[in-house]
Amino acid sequence: MRVVCIGGGPAGLYFGLLMKKENPAHHITVVERNKPYDTFGWGVVFSDATMENMRAWDPDTAREIESAFNHWDDIEVLIKGRRMRTTGHGFVGIGRKKLLNILQARCEALGVELVFEREVDSDLEFPDADLIIASDGLNSKIRNRYPEAFKPDLLMRPNRFIWLGSKKPFDAFTFDFRRTEHGWFQAHIYKFDDDTSTFIVETTEDVFTAHGLDKADEAKSITFCEQLFGEVLDGGKLLSNARHLRGSAWLNFGRLICGKWSHFNGKNHVVLMGDAAHTAHFAIGSGTKLALEDAIELTRQFRNLGDTPDKIRAVLDAYEEVRAVDVARIQNAARNAMEWFEVVGSRYADTLEPEQFMYSLLTRSQRISHENLRLRDKTWLENYERWFAARAGINVDPDGPAVPPMFTPYRVRGLTLQNRIVMSPMAMYSAADGIPNDFHLVHFGSRALGGAGLIFSEMTCGSPDARITPGCLGLWNDEQAAAWKRIVDFVHAITSAKFGLQLGHAGRKGSTRVAWEGIDQPLHEGNWPLISASALPYMPNGQLPLAMTRADMDRVKADFVAAAKRSVGIGFDILELHCAHGYLLSSFLSPLTNHRTDEYGGSHENNARYPLEIFRAIRAVWPDEKPISVRLSCHDWTEGGNTPSDAAIYAKMFKDAGADLVDCSSGQVSKEEKPIYGRLFQTPFSDKLRNEIGIATVAVGAISEADHANSIIAAGRADLCALARPHLADAAWTLHEAAKIGVKSISWPKQYLSAKMQYEANLARATLGPRPS
Ligand SMILES: Cc1cc2nc3c(=O)[nH]c(=O)nc-3n(C[C@H](O)[C@H](O)[C@H](O)COP(=O)(O)OP(=O)(O)OC[C@H]3O[C@@H](n4cnc5c(N)ncnc54)[C@H](O)[C@@H]3O)c2cc1C
Ligand SMILES: Cc1cc2nc3c(=O)[nH]c(=O)nc-3n(C[C@H](O)[C@H](O)[C@H](O)COP(=O)(O)O)c2cc1C
Repeated sequence: MRVVCIGGGPAGLYFGLLMKKENPAHHITVVERNKPYDTFGWGVVFSDATMENMRAWDPDTAREIESAFNHWDDIEVLIKGRRMRTTGHGFVGIGRKKLLNILQARCEALGVELVFEREVDSDLEFPDADLIIASDGLNSKIRNRYPEAFKPDLLMRPNRFIWLGSKKPFDAFTFDFRRTEHGWFQAHIYKFDDDTSTFIVETTEDVFTAHGLDKADEAKSITFCEQLFGEVLDGGKLLSNARHLRGSAWLNFGRLICGKWSHFNGKNHVVLMGDAAHTAHFAIGSGTKLALEDAIELTRQFRNLGDTPDKIRAVLDAYEEVRAVDVARIQNAARNAMEWFEVVGSRYADTLEPEQFMYSLLTRSQRISHENLRLRDKTWLENYERWFAARAGINVDPDGPAVPPMFTPYRVRGLTLQNRIVMSPMAMYSAADGIPNDFHLVHFGSRALGGAGLIFSEMTCGSPDARITPGCLGLWNDEQAAAWKRIVDFVHAITSAKFGLQLGHAGRKGSTRVAWEGIDQPLHEGNWPLISASALPYMPNGQLPLAMTRADMDRVKADFVAAAKRSVGIGFDILELHCAHGYLLSSFLSPLTNHRTDEYGGSHENNARYPLEIFRAIRAVWPDEKPISVRLSCHDWTEGGNTPSDAAIYAKMFKDAGADLVDCSSGQVSKEEKPIYGRLFQTPFSDKLRNEIGIATVAVGAISEADHANSIIAAGRADLCALARPHLADAAWTLHEAAKIGVKSISWPKQYLSAKMQYEANLARATLGPRPS
């Protein structure tokens, strides 16, 4: 086969040499516009996994690279006069020039033709090639010729960065955060050869312009950075080698995803590789790794499917199928890390204490969790756990076992929870006439015995027509209050769990069947009239609600207040006002469901007017020492709907009205929603609200392991973690997770104590694996 790689970066060179090595009969040319040994940039970092892959495919190159590597384990963070260090993080760095020189030399040794100083304008310049590799980087001319075919999606990110070098050999991957009169700058610093380090300075666009850096030339920008980071540089110089860049040396990162990676141009197959196909932000240092792994995968597919021209189509499809998955995974992690650096100044740097700031930084990609950190640096993590526990009010024994963050107590107003785990509200559709019965006693009782610090009732309503279904719970009469009291008294008498009541009104989503007979489907008979912010049905075949009148508002408010008053007597510990999921109060907050033109619609202030009125009314009758939480849909996941920025505005209004916590859920407002599910998928909303608005939050949604909860609480992404489905699957979720992470100090109900040791011993035995026969 005749193969031409356009662009001699890591992708083009490595693919060239691997293919030539696989079959020396191939004719392979790499065409590069720069001179040999002439390149931009400083050092790049790799992970151990990439090196293992490279050793398997070409040990010669791997050996050369490894002998040029600088390896380091430590991460050091500098902020607000503090210098903090952790170890066990395992990076390797190499100069980009050195890497390219090794790849070029190996290409020459294997017989790959290298053509330098030739600018390629079109793939059509190589009519004889069977295959053209577009390895010409982010601004790929080849990709840009065929936007219809490759469907590139390039998103320029808001932060500015400048890629510099330093002759100070830093002995740790160093992050230095500096505040100026206009805001925060951060430097990402890592050594890549004996005496040189990469030094990337990053900030937000507004801070960048406030300092006039948009008008500064490169020399001025460098002087500015030298002064700002003078302490970490020991007064040393910063160096540039980006002279080929025109204009400002400060760049914006371009995040690239391509809908398709290959195209037949009528004469030859063209395939994208490396930065031409995708980019991953330098915050997790994976661009070069992705380029090299692309090269390996394409070579693997030729090896598996055949390396003749007739196989090219199938090979390219298989290559794209495999790589698209891996690349999406890395891009996801890179996005989390990149976004962390985009908001660090406005969200974390001023608010979090240095210890917690560092934890948040280390877990920024959300691929490194609490237990990962324990594996990397046990001492550091346990000291952090002690620091966190002391902040939570525990008397910490510096030599005793550390308490993981989810098992620390949490205090809000006069309420103290024994740990940070909450059973999330879950409708069970198992009541008649709104009265809790024996099912509810067993359901709540067993979950309270299961170790959660707080259990919440399902959405409970102040009138029969406020219910979702005829099976939903209510609190509008004394019979219901007495039945509730029996359950709350049981929980308080037998367990240490606290009990919360979620108060809500179904609004336009009411008068439907119980879940297992058809979620959101109207009743077969006995439907009741519905009210909502506006006269818009939830389901296309659903009942049309009436837009609430002021008289409706007064009646519903009186019901909420009456239920809140009854719950004082029952002895609930906390109330939650349900303002999420498209129910009545949520229907006011979302522009999708609120089309009102009076003072209850049309702006954030108007949309929140009635929900805030209800909040203030129940706050007035609820004891001062007891907290109230508000549940919000922080994202409607629908074009034109609320986003987390809107949720932040509402959270601030509830905070100002006296709310103690925001429970950060999302969705269920519109049937058109397209949520992006995944592990901890709603935690970013909690993180945003907690750290931007300064209100305590509950994170919820696809949190299923102690490791998740510990990571969230420790990083300050939430104060509490609520779990719904895991509590249906396992009433004793908290006790079981404690045992799984080896925490033995959590007490089990005294009646069940004899099971505790056996459970822990069985887990320990399972970890050791099967006994040898
Ligand atoms: C600030 C910063 C820090 C980074 N840090 C890291 C890191 O720590 N670790 C990491 O793995 N990655 C890092 N990267 C990313 C990394 O540099 C790229 O992802 C990687 O180089 C991609 O390799 P590539 O071969 O696809 O493209 P490139 O390295 O961009 O190579 C493309 C080549 O094509 C040539 N070319 C382009 N157009 C033409 C043309 N028309 N004709 C001929 N030749 C052409 C170019 O001269 C270039 O040599 C960083 C990037 C930035 C911006
Ligand atoms: C069966 C069931 C019923 C639910 N009922 C309610 C409810 O009454 N009120 C509410 O705010 N959320 C309700 N939810 C949503 C949960 O509280 C929670 O936010 C959601 O399930 C995501 O958490 P998870 O991933 O831990 O299940 C319900 C969820 C389930 C599974």
